[in-house]
Amino acid sequence: MMNRKKFLQLGSMGLASINLPSFSTTIQKPIVISTWDSGMPVNAEAWKILSANGKSIDAVEAGAMYIEDSLNCCVGLGGHPDRDGIVTLDACIMDEKANCGAVGGLEQIKHPISVARKIMETTPHVMLVGQGAQQFALENGFPKEPAKLSEDATNAYKKWIEKSKYQPEINIENKKNNGPFAPPFFEDGSPNHDTMGLVAMDTNGDLSGAVTTSGMAFKIHGRVGDSPIIGAGLFVDNEIGAATSSGVGEEVIRICGTHTVVEYMRHGYSPEKACKKAVERIVNRDPKKAATLQVGFLAMNKKGEYGAYAIQKGFVFSVKSNNENKIHTSKYLI
Ligand code: GLY
Repeated sequence: MMNRKKFLQLGSMGLASINLPSFSTTIQKPIVISTWDSGMPVNAEAWKILSANGKSIDAVEAGAMYIEDSLNCCVGLGGHPDRDGIVTLDACIMDEKANCGAVGGLEQIKHPISVARKIMETTPHVMLVGQGAQQFALENGFPKEPAKLSEDATNAYKKWIEKSKYQPEINIENKKNNGPFAPPFFEDGSPNHDTMGLVAMDTNGDLSGAVTTSGMAFKIHGRVGDSPIIGAGLFVDNEIGAATSSGVGEEVIRICGTHTVVEYMRHGYSPEKACKKAVERIVNRDPKKAATLQVGFLAMNKKGEYGAYAIQKGFVFSVKSNNENKIHTSKYLI
């Protein structure tokens, strides 16, 4: 048992040497963080709601809708098609009460994130996929719209179809691209970001998250990645924190990536260290394979502290709070 003398001795050694939890009372809120540099306008959209004391669930939906509208090469109807030339969309959303909704393989609907929210709010289910998801969307007033491949996505698909080599790559930065915040590119120079994931905390201290993507470029028709899977592409635990991911979804699914990150935070790791631990799990499972692909995790805890970690160089994320509005470069393992 520790007596008073021993306790005082410890004190003179400096308590910093003991791994005590931090008792900082400063909570940074509201705040929104999102994957990639394309998260800057997404955060701005979410901020309109957060700064007016709105709810984090409304903020993350608004942010995701913004990028779905923007004919981005990797999200929404302008996204990269699958190998049959069809754009299929994945999305999910989760609030502070662990309510959640998701769609997988949704075609010809502009706002998969809002369909996911509708599933969350009006059905007893979490996820609808393919034709069933589209039918649900149409029945709920979402209009059917043809995909409008962005110029980047069209060029990348044309280039890919010349060889039709089934070797998807995600997010690995082209060595020719030296800018600190420049996006990763395919070998032909077209942008190769994939997923928009965002997490927000509102003035009430409630956390929510949203993810939206057209998934891995030139995937097999029907393939669904991590993005719409709760616990893989997104996880929110309002007592602890929230996390999202970007990169090769199969690797994230194998380790229940974002759930793993949140569990590490539950055990006292900072958001950045929690993301690092999850990345290590992927890399340790198969280091050779991990060296050929990219996964990045992004997380926030209940204090509004945030952090990210990726397998490789190239992952960046965007942060908006009362204190900052900027792009950060993620640390990486390899
Ligand atoms: N992370 C996106 C995907 O694998 O589909």
